[in-house]
Amino acid sequence: MSHQICIRSAVVDDVETIYQLLKPFVKNSITLQRDRDNIFQHLQEFLVAEYDGALAGVVCAHIYGKNLAEVRSLVVDPDCQNHGVGRLLVEGCEHWLADMGVSKVFALTYVTDFFIKLGYRTVSKESLPHKIWTVCVHCSRFADCDEVAVEKQLFDTLSNP
Ligand SMILES: CC(C)(COP(=O)(O)OP(=O)(O)OC[C@H]1O[C@@H](n2cnc3c(N)ncnc32)[C@H](O)[C@@H]1OP(=O)(O)O)[C@@H](O)C(=O)NCCC(=O)NCCS
Repeated sequence: MSHQICIRSAVVDDVETIYQLLKPFVKNSITLQRDRDNIFQHLQEFLVAEYDGALAGVVCAHIYGKNLAEVRSLVVDPDCQNHGVGRLLVEGCEHWLADMGVSKVFALTYVTDFFIKLGYRTVSKESLPHKIWTVCVHCSRFADCDEVAVEKQLFDTLSNP
């Protein structure tokens, strides 16, 4: 049976489900700490995935500047993984960001091979600007973070200076 996947902007009624989707991964420090207030305050950065009509995935796109944004808080409900939801969420973010004129996207991740499949390349964390670490300093793993930095050029800045 084929499944229906729909990617859309998050709305306020999604906040509780987003919170519940993220919760186990926040607990394991796989994604950033977020309470419900934080999700409300950043709601305009979130895309969600509906899988056969039920909310099954979430991702957040945080813009740092014209040339850099981060894909963060990417989670797919474990019952719905490996059906293309994660790919569609990340690609949804990429289109959204490119449409806004952001040329490059990065992620800090433990699922490097997933991002490589989506066209990302690994880069050194030192190549990323200092301002991206302002959120990470609140993470329990900050002192010995073993996440890998990956990035993808969305379009050539020479063609859109
Ligand atoms: C990582 C995650 C978002 C992937 O979502 P998903 O819906 O299962 O992924 P998809 O089905 O869209 O997979 C797309 C491709 O990546 C591959 N893939 C999925 N997870 C992978 C992983 N952990 N490692 C390597 N490849 C992976 C799939 O096999 C698929 O390959 P294909 O196109 O050749 O078939 C999901 O496993 C998840 O929520 N993990 C826990 C939270 C997490 O680690 N989030 C990332 C924070 S940066």
